[in-house]
Amino acid sequence: MALYLITGVAGFIGSSLARGLLQRGEQVRGVDNFSTGKRENLNQILGQIDFRETDILDLDAMKLACTGVDYVLHQAAIPSVPKSVLDPIGSNRANVDGSVNALVAARDAKVKRVVYAASSSAYGDTPTLPKHERMSPDPISPYAVAKLASEYYLTSFYRCYGIETVSLRYFNIFGPRQDPSSPYSGVLAKFITMMLRGEQPTIFGDGEQSRDFTYIDNAVQANLLACKAPAAQVAGKVFNVATGRRATLNETFKLLQPLTSYSGAPAYAEERGGDIKHSLADISQAEQHLGYKPTVNFEEGLRQTVEWYRSSRV
Ligand code: UD1
Repeated sequence: MALYLITGVAGFIGSSLARGLLQRGEQVRGVDNFSTGKRENLNQILGQIDFRETDILDLDAMKLACTGVDYVLHQAAIPSVPKSVLDPIGSNRANVDGSVNALVAARDAKVKRVVYAASSSAYGDTPTLPKHERMSPDPISPYAVAKLASEYYLTSFYRCYGIETVSLRYFNIFGPRQDPSSPYSGVLAKFITMMLRGEQPTIFGDGEQSRDFTYIDNAVQANLLACKAPAAQVAGKVFNVATGRRATLNETFKLLQPLTSYSGAPAYAEERGGDIKHSLADISQAEQHLGYKPTVNFEEGLRQTVEWYRSSRV
């Protein structure tokens, strides 16, 4: 049994990782400052994890949190492109300074490995599809820059201090517990909850933008594999975590209609600033070096997510 520290454990992805680890009999410690995380995400698991209300910007608290830890899964962030466009300083503080703090604390505690929630936004709007890890990054939003800077810090910490690090570039992760309530929420959480309530969702732009929407179970799998894969294959490296398929927003809306029993049309509004048009991953590196293989496809992920929101009445 190993001890995992999850930063951002009360978030959608962090709390899903905690559940996945507990199911596998692992020990979980988690930190969160509830800036975007939610207490209710920890409802059924709070008694089974060592939870600490800690800000990743508090280095002393992070050093304590890393004591005795085998693996750090660093998920804490302000996860929003539009929010970063409005507040680049806040985005940088949480998404870069916070990562450096987590790395210093992990290094000093001599943890075995740090796995990081990096972002597909690092690729920017370059026309080449699918995106593969050897492409030059071309971030657009402050969020994308911050996530990429943290990736570089992870690789730097491996090179300078020898601490093993792995960055996972998440492609639009979705699933149960993703927060639908903020204007910055991920599009699927927003659309599903609105359509279940009979409300009309708004597509920004013409709806022909596409994403490699990735169900949460696939991201959990990738994190667990990234902890255990041989260092020679993964340390200091970056891997796409996605499905290798993409859907446009118009297609996605049509898939959601029968699942949510919403029969109306979507509204269309101005394209969103900082957005990219298309996103699709080449996942061959993760397949080869992590042994990653997506187990839940987009349609099945949508079904499970709609069911969860329906039964939890968010
Ligand atoms: C981006 C990153 C992703 C990151 C996430 C954090 C890319 C490809 N992906 O996701 O890795 O984790 O930010 O926030 O850069 N939309 C609507 N209506 C809405 C809401 C959104 O049409 O009500 C549209 C957006 O304009 C966008 C698409 O849906 O075109 C997806 O938006 P969103 O879910 O916010 O994610 P990304 O910005 O793609």
